[in-house]
Amino acid sequence: MLFRKGLNKIKPYEPGKPIEEVKRALGLKEVYKLASNEIPFVPVYIRKAIYEEINNINRYPEGSSFYLRRSLASKLKVKESQIVFGNGSDELITLALRATIENKDEVIIGYPTFLVYEIQSAVFGAKIIRVPLSNLRYDLEAMASKVTKKTKIIFVANPDNPTGTYVAQKEVEEFLKSIPKTILVVFDEAYFEFAPSDFPNTFDFLKKRGNIIITRTFSKVYGLAGLRIGYAITTEAIANVLNKIREPFNINRFAQVAALAAIKNDKFLKNTRSYILNEKKYLYKELRRLNVSFKESATNFVLIDFKKDANKFNSYLLKKGIIVRPLSGWGLKNYFRVTVGLHKENEKFIRCFENYLNTED
Ligand SMILES: Cc1ncc(COP(=O)(O)O)c(C=O)c1O
Repeated sequence: MLFRKGLNKIKPYEPGKPIEEVKRALGLKEVYKLASNEIPFVPVYIRKAIYEEINNINRYPEGSSFYLRRSLASKLKVKESQIVFGNGSDELITLALRATIENKDEVIIGYPTFLVYEIQSAVFGAKIIRVPLSNLRYDLEAMASKVTKKTKIIFVANPDNPTGTYVAQKEVEEFLKSIPKTILVVFDEAYFEFAPSDFPNTFDFLKKRGNIIITRTFSKVYGLAGLRIGYAITTEAIANVLNKIREPFNINRFAQVAALAAIKNDKFLKNTRSYILNEKKYLYKELRRLNVSFKESATNFVLIDFKKDANKFNSYLLKKGIIVRPLSGWGLKNYFRVTVGLHKENEKFIRCFENYLNTED
């Protein structure tokens, strides 16, 4: 057989439907995308940096992301040599696996959780140990109980996607005490900037324990999902390996200059966060009014329990020009996930939800 064993079992990642596709397929003029946990504004302040960089696009970018690395290290108070940039934080997950997994090593993941851990673990031939969430939260104790001599990596999406739940400082502290230091623990903090104050200080754990990778992204609160850039903070030893095995020019010029502009713009970050948190409150209030069950979320999206198959409702919303994320691919067919959008988008979503409940249900 041409392909490596196990690849035929992999179910491809299904992204949220793109706006363009839904407009084309349904003949709609206006479509709101509340499906992929992006923020609803364009960070227009990065335009200047992007325009200037156009003058250099005939040249390869700097492979080390030099200026961005320097600036991020100083902002996060880590060494430059502790940072690895990725083509989205997705790439950092892949790199962690590529660097570590050998035949039938085990990877422990929550279930359901962010799908990339499982897909990429399968690509590298790892044995995947799924640990069910408990009440839609990571069950760290149960995860720790699954450690064997073959365990290489434990992935913790915190806050988690698609549930929006998080594990707090104390829980993570207890969890790490029970995990042998030889095992790599990856804390995927893609939604870190939206998380509440008892969120774990994983930088401290990294200092004390080593063998931790913290991944974060410019795709969410910074609004650069289309440029693809994320970063990992880890030990120098791990960063060296990941930097050695990544592709030499994995971060393109536009991503480098945009991310650099983004980390200097605290105002955009602050305003975005506060807009999203306010709109999330609006959604909570309206969902409660409609008697809809949902999970309070530490992110920019909300998991909704539709109590029965949500597919018909998803199709209804699509026809109204609203894309949300059905979750049957996660084994949650009675649930869907809605990203917090602009106020007018959230309002339309609620209006459609109310109409559906009053008429079609
Ligand atoms: C938990 C989690 N991790 C990682 C990512 C990947 O983000 P990116 O590759 O855009 O940095 C996402 C994106 O939705 C996510 O939800």
